[in-house]
Amino acid sequence: MSTLNVRVAAIEQVTPLVKHFTLMREDGQHFPTFSGGSHVVVAMDINGRTHRNAYSLMGSPDDTEAYHISVRRQEHSRGGSVFMHDNVVEGSQLQITMPVNLFSLSKMGRKHILIAGGIGITPFMSQLHDIQRNGYNYELHYAFRSLEHGAFSDQLKARCGNHAHIYVDRLGQKLDLRELLGSQPLGTHVYVCGPSSMVTAVLETARELGWPENHIHSEQFTAPPMGDAFTVQLAKSKTEITVPNDITLLEALETAGVNPDSLCRGGACGRCELDVLELDGEIFHHDHYLSDAEKASNRKIMPCVSRARCTHMLLDI
Ligand code: FES
Repeated sequence: MSTLNVRVAAIEQVTPLVKHFTLMREDGQHFPTFSGGSHVVVAMDINGRTHRNAYSLMGSPDDTEAYHISVRRQEHSRGGSVFMHDNVVEGSQLQITMPVNLFSLSKMGRKHILIAGGIGITPFMSQLHDIQRNGYNYELHYAFRSLEHGAFSDQLKARCGNHAHIYVDRLGQKLDLRELLGSQPLGTHVYVCGPSSMVTAVLETARELGWPENHIHSEQFTAPPMGDAFTVQLAKSKTEITVPNDITLLEALETAGVNPDSLCRGGACGRCELDVLELDGEIFHHDHYLSDAEKASNRKIMPCVSRARCTHMLLDI
């Protein structure tokens, strides 16, 4: 995938755990336009290893001067967000991919219900530009832990007026999904981004209420879990690589110069799927893409998020 060299032009501490980064192109050119819900992948060199994290673009899709991302500090994950918080300063150089959109608005939607939890608000920041520019009918439902953790909530209230509904958990404010999703006109689409418990609840409630599958859209920001190191053999490349505990199988393949396709890097899009030809252990599937039967068969793995415990795993790559 083609990449862009960028410089961090500004950093703003938005909440105790969230920083907002403004990125400008190193070559002084304009960025490509993108559509609301797009993300870029940021490459980070951490202790000599390249980590790649996906972050939603938050600014106006028409703003080609700068890209904007926000990063929530995740203390107990692989280190990418902590690196962004502690090591990246104004003037730092980074490499990002071109924008990719796996969470776009449906042009057929007659109404759009956006449901965000915590840092899951980020893809909606750019989607709202598309919604407001096109005059779409919409509601934004944004839930977060406590007032100090409500990133961009004041800005959203001002921008969306009575389209915005805010729920602060510590104040006992709860989003009633059944009531919300049970009372929408035909042709409504629902979009959810946030912690997996919220995404699962929205998907299950919408399905129980009979929403058509193609009217339900989700994006999850699950950091790939760490785990024990393991070794894989590559059938086509005729080589063997070890996957350290703190980088993904996908990152280990890329470091070795083997580059499977990838887009979301979060186990959702299916792009990185690899066939497992032989295995003498078990795969820890962390994706939301493979079916239960495919997971149980241990014949496929999504290397962006899934890991294995084995002494021998032969991949068809
Ligand atoms: S890159 Fe999307 S599932 Fe792996």
